[in-house]
Amino acid sequence: MKQETSAALAPPQSYRVPFSGVGYRYSAEDKDAVMQAMDSSVTLTQGSNQVKFEEKFARFIGVPAAFATSSAAAAFELSAILMNLSPGDEVICPAHTYCASAYPFARHGVQMRWADINRDTFVVSVESVKSLISERTKAIIAVHLYGLPADLDQLREVANQANVLLIEDCAQSIGAKFGEAETGSVGDLAVYSFQSHKNISTLGEGGMLTVQNPELSKHVAGLRHNGHRPFVRSDSRYWYPAMSDVGFDIEGVWPHNFCMGEPQAAIGTVLLDHVAEINSKRRSRFLYSQEALSAYPELVFQTIPDGRTSSHHLLPFRYDGYNYGANNHDFMERLVQQHLIQPATQYYPLNRYELFAASGNGEADVPNTDEFFDNMVSLPFHVWMPDLDFRYVVESVAETAEHLRAHGGSWARKATQ
Ligand SMILES: Cc1ncc(COP(=O)(O)O)c(C=O)c1O
Repeated sequence: MKQETSAALAPPQSYRVPFSGVGYRYSAEDKDAVMQAMDSSVTLTQGSNQVKFEEKFARFIGVPAAFATSSAAAAFELSAILMNLSPGDEVICPAHTYCASAYPFARHGVQMRWADINRDTFVVSVESVKSLISERTKAIIAVHLYGLPADLDQLREVANQANVLLIEDCAQSIGAKFGEAETGSVGDLAVYSFQSHKNISTLGEGGMLTVQNPELSKHVAGLRHNGHRPFVRSDSRYWYPAMSDVGFDIEGVWPHNFCMGEPQAAIGTVLLDHVAEINSKRRSRFLYSQEALSAYPELVFQTIPDGRTSSHHLLPFRYDGYNYGANNHDFMERLVQQHLIQPATQYYPLNRYELFAASGNGEADVPNTDEFFDNMVSLPFHVWMPDLDFRYVVESVAETAEHLRAHGGSWARKATQ
């Protein structure tokens, strides 16, 4: 080990295994679909590729309607608009998730009520959600974090009893299942992300909103695309201004432009055929890591309850190294300095961010969230990483656990001084 101090060392010039990386590498077939859409002489937006992608996506998930968007955050913003929120309303969301699961609701002036996670599954705790339901609750956000479905049976029941919407955040969970149900098919609304790091990406950005209720879904196309709708006209002229009217889909609610382009929709359509194969590669790597690291119970990985199928988007663990006088900073420092592997800590509890604290959303009683964030390590987990590199990551994790068992760590020593 090159150091024994708790002062952070400079990061290496380059990593053997960096944390970030695209979630998936495109094949020639994927690229062909993009080229074909690029060569279209008709349109690069709002065309047949979007229609195809949306129809195929809705069938894939098993929902009546899907709307392609520029991002999951945009899909969440559309959800918030559809909910007709007013100040004083409350939305329940786990504190342990990415900020975009929550800020589209906070933007509308609602009070965010932060739910805790389950200590074993790292996804939202149903008990915690129940304890936060009030007369003012408008929705529960079920985030399938790291690709593991939250308990959709119970959350559906809680939402039904409280007569509030259940919104699924499937940004990380494409292809994950609760029983036989795809994530996104149980909630009233569901949001997906195809951003660069996700299991499938529509060229860097992209999202999808699925909607069960036709009374809500009829508003989405206009709200997403500048309020456009056909002119209602009594003659045969088609050359009205810009060939379409604009208006309010919901009285008084201004539209956005949250559209996805045609080349993105074209590649999304092709990638849907590969979700099972991509997730299965991720699953075999997850299982390999569990087997290889089973001798280290201080590395607590996400428990996958029976009947749930994860999309294995990320590979985090809680490091319970206190018996060995070491903590997650010791773990990460050794991964970085000794093995040139770049880990990450995620997700910063949302209530701790200035964005939420300064907007009156800083209160939370989330001990499992705090414990997890303060002790967690997230490993690089790109699916295109060569097998050799992934084995190297797993071996380095084992070596680090052994080393800290024998020597403890300076960050933990400093923390107890
Ligand atoms: C859990 C979760 N929700 C929402 C989002 C937002 O997705 P997008 O970047 O497509 O807006 C992300 C993206 O990282 C995410 O991980």
